Amino acid sequence: MKVSLLCSATLFTWATFAFPANLLKGGDISEATLAEITSLTEQITRDIEARSQGSHVKRAFNAAAQRISTTGEHRYIAPGPNDLRGPCPGLNVMANHGYLPRNGMSTILQMTTASTEVFGMGLDLSAFLAVYSAVMAGDLNSFSIGGKPKSNGLLGLTSSLGLLGEPQGLSASHNRFESDGSPTRADLYSTGDPVSLNLDQFKQLLSMPLGRNGIDNNVMTAFRLKRLRHSIATNGHYFSGPVTCFALNPATYQFTYRFFANHTAENPEGYLDAQTLMTFQGVTLENGEYKWSPGQERFPENWYRRFIGDEYTIPSFTAEAISIEMAHPEVIRIGGNTGQPNTFTGVDIDDLTGNVLNAQTLLEGNNSVCFAFTAAQLAAPDILGGLVGNVLLAVQKLTDALTPILTALNCPEITQYDATLFKAFPGAGSAL
Ligand code: HEM
Ligand SMILES: *[C@@H]1O[C@H](CO)[C@@H](O)[C@H](O)[C@H]1NC(C)=O
Ligand SMILES: *[C@@H]1O[C@H](CO)[C@@H](O)[C@H](O)[C@H]1NC(C)=O
Repeated sequence: MKVSLLCSATLFTWATFAFPANLLKGGDISEATLAEITSLTEQITRDIEARSQGSHVKRAFNAAAQRISTTGEHRYIAPGPNDLRGPCPGLNVMANHGYLPRNGMSTILQMTTASTEVFGMGLDLSAFLAVYSAVMAGDLNSFSIGGKPKSNGLLGLTSSLGLLGEPQGLSASHNRFESDGSPTRADLYSTGDPVSLNLDQFKQLLSMPLGRNGIDNNVMTAFRLKRLRHSIATNGHYFSGPVTCFALNPATYQFTYRFFANHTAENPEGYLDAQTLMTFQGVTLENGEYKWSPGQERFPENWYRRFIGDEYTIPSFTAEAISIEMAHPEVIRIGGNTGQPNTFTGVDIDDLTGNVLNAQTLLEGNNSVCFAFTAAQLAAPDILGGLVGNVLLAVQKLTDALTPILTALNCPEITQYDATLFKAFPGAGSAL
């Protein structure tokens, strides 16, 4: 019998080491923030209910609602020396246009609502990503979309400590968020810089033959296979755990087309051309030379987001991720290289999951995405025990709001998860 893996357990229980409770106190959040999160969770619940009743149908093209402003308060301003930017082009571009705070410090609420309004990301998915990164890279109140906040700069926010110690920001979240095999960011151990856009990779992407919708999902999937093979063949520290393999890495490829494409009345799926991708990623072409500099990501003029009502949700992401895995089982690889290129060694799924899943059943239903969520959840069952006050309440509220989505995935109950098996891999670091 299949039961929901999240009925009694909770999603956000994933620290990998114990930490003193006083560290957590520093990360507690205000009553006002808690009230905002409560209101967000109510909105998420209403949204999920509306969708499950089928009342959330895609509406007609609405130029005014889908066109994203690049003027006035949303004009492009290059980030200053104290403004933080990181590996995510979506978050960078929103900060460059004031859809997120221009200093690069965002709260869960700001990140969730901006991603939904500006890119048409489902509230479920944006809330999940925002909470995940607040836990992994921030202090749950606000966190950096780039590197470590500067304590002596304008921000002065480092007084609060995060769940995993001093917040490092998304740029330093290797194998917790930032990971190997990304489309345009290099592997950490290959170049030492997994945050900047890598022009060689970008040029390779632009040289792929176009699909029906330009740089569409077929193109991104072909590029993903190329990048995966390249990482295994060149990065002795290549590593891919379940959260990376079944959630974060597919997301980087699927998001590129699903969120950057330009939408029109005639083409509701959207078309992504090279110029639009270059503008979003801050790449310019002058005298035949491509150039990237940090902080140049912009919204193209006259660009139209996804249709209102056709937000890209956790169920949309899951269905697409699984169809890609079925078509290309090569992407299903948990494990890593053992120190030298081309030494990829897989981890036995049976051993990792206490025999609940194996190579065969991983491909059934939504099991692979279930595995990613479960791995994140079971990595360390006791973090919630250390949470205090409003942080605990906020995490519980968000977890509860997302429960119906995860129940609908119909996941097998995985109660054992042995991440110590990753210790054999030199590149695993603090992988979940
Ligand atoms: C909601 C909160 C979000 C968080 C916390 C987040 C975080 C991240 C992180 C940490 C990466 C780096 C992964 C890596 O290179 O290993 C990334 C990559 C990426 N993100 Fe986001 N993101 C969010 C929303 C968005 C949105 C709204 C978009 C819309 C365009 C987006 C598009 C992308 C793309 C396309 C990549 C791949 C970059 C590349 O290598 O080419 N993300 N994101
Ligand atoms: C998006 O599509 C519309 C309609 O075809 C077009 O007018 C506009 O220039 C396109 N925007 C971009 C950034 O390509
Ligand atoms: C997979 O998840 C979707 C919702 O995201 C659900 O409708 C579908 O029934 C699930 N598939 C299986 C086989 O449980």
